[in-house]
Amino acid sequence: MEGFSSAEVGRKQCPVDYKRQAKDKYAFWETQPVAQFREGSEGVEGPIDAPKTVDDVRSEPYYLPESFEWSICNLNDDAVAEEVYELLSNNYVEDDDSMFRFKYSANFLKWCLLCPGHRLEWLVGVRVKASQKLVGFISAIPAHIRVRDNTVAMVEINFLCVHKKLRAKRLAPLLIKEITRRVNKCNIWQAAYTAGVLLPKPVATCRYYHRSLNPRKLIDVGFSRLAPRMTMARTIKLYKLPETTFTPGLRECRPDDVQQVTKLLNKHLGVYKLAPKFMPEEAAHWFQNIDDVINTFVVESPSTPGHVTDLVSFYTLPSSILGHPQHTELKAAYLYYVVVSSVPLRQLVFDALVLAATRGYDVFNALDLMQNETFLRELKFGQGDGQLHYYLYNWRLGGGCSISPQDVGLVLM
Ligand SMILES: CC(C)(COP(=O)(O)OP(=O)(O)OC[C@H]1O[C@@H](n2cnc3c(N)ncnc32)[C@H](O)[C@@H]1OP(=O)(O)O)[C@@H](O)C(=O)NCCC(=O)NCCS
Repeated sequence: MEGFSSAEVGRKQCPVDYKRQAKDKYAFWETQPVAQFREGSEGVEGPIDAPKTVDDVRSEPYYLPESFEWSICNLNDDAVAEEVYELLSNNYVEDDDSMFRFKYSANFLKWCLLCPGHRLEWLVGVRVKASQKLVGFISAIPAHIRVRDNTVAMVEINFLCVHKKLRAKRLAPLLIKEITRRVNKCNIWQAAYTAGVLLPKPVATCRYYHRSLNPRKLIDVGFSRLAPRMTMARTIKLYKLPETTFTPGLRECRPDDVQQVTKLLNKHLGVYKLAPKFMPEEAAHWFQNIDDVINTFVVESPSTPGHVTDLVSFYTLPSSILGHPQHTELKAAYLYYVVVSSVPLRQLVFDALVLAATRGYDVFNALDLMQNETFLRELKFGQGDGQLHYYLYNWRLGGGCSISPQDVGLVLM
């Protein structure tokens, strides 16, 4: 789950004041095993619910209103993948002014949701019984996530969506409860998820930053604005990138890199307080090259052929541009994971910008997590207007605290 963010010029970053931004009442979330805004610092780190067994979990799906039914969305079936794509591209996350809406491609959804260890029953749809129209969706995929010293078998929850015509009818809590039941039935009791909206209670809050690659289009469509005292010509010059990359040995990641890539990633991710752990088959899946879905590049040492020293990856998440006379789609690359050992971080991300620009992306987005703060300004990223909150289900951080962006090592799509 994501928050939409577009470029904003010149806003200062403030510390997050959760209590001030929170609603007075969260009728659903106050009933769930999640950290609450009002709780103090006395809680110990770990599960919130008393331990349960699979037999304690109800066997029947939750009741839906009479005219709806649950449906497993088997994305291996292209027609079903197309239905989920349609639902999301018409009803998923928009910016506050309804100028843009995320448009995850069907291929992206397949890559993301048919990952190693996926379960089809965790791709949960709601259909209208009479017409079979898909009107709701939520997904879970398995992941091993370390929170400080504990590595926990969790799921990542994503793509919660209710059709616009069925909003505010409490269908979202039903989708959340049903996916929780199905995940609990598999003896998994924790989840990680992100959202732009503030819910009880974030473990971390990050911000999006945006690097213009095609500034003219971004300004034309209202994604960003011409800075004061800047002309279009000067802006284009400011963001111009070379045609070729700088780092010797940079090449597309290949399946036979998987052992080295897994080691490189896990070693690096070990320094953060919230981070995934990848098994080799997971790394092989997440760090591949699929056009317009995911791109992964590695540096193979020019002096030691075969030795992979660095990695950078970005995924593709276009947005529909709503109601613009000329442009219909914004092509955005999102920085995924980057690990360096032989070259400066800034240099490798610069090369990723070059690669994205030559592939026709309009903008390159990155969060201020991991060590990203060290390159964002110099590489001409501008701060976005949206926050992205990270949440854990049935897991409390000890001491009532939250994790700083630079201690977050987890990127969800
Ligand atoms: C998010 C969405 C599914 C919520 O459905 P809805 O019809 O607006 O709201 P419902 O009446 O069904 O449910 C309201 C409850 O869901 C919660 N909720 C809203 N957005 C949520 C989110 N992103 N994640 C988890 N819970 C959310 C609300 O806080 C509320 O619970 P509360 O009473 O404890 O505060 C729907 O607005 C939607 O599809 N939006 C566009 C896509 C989107 O933003 N998806 C989430 C991406 S993170």
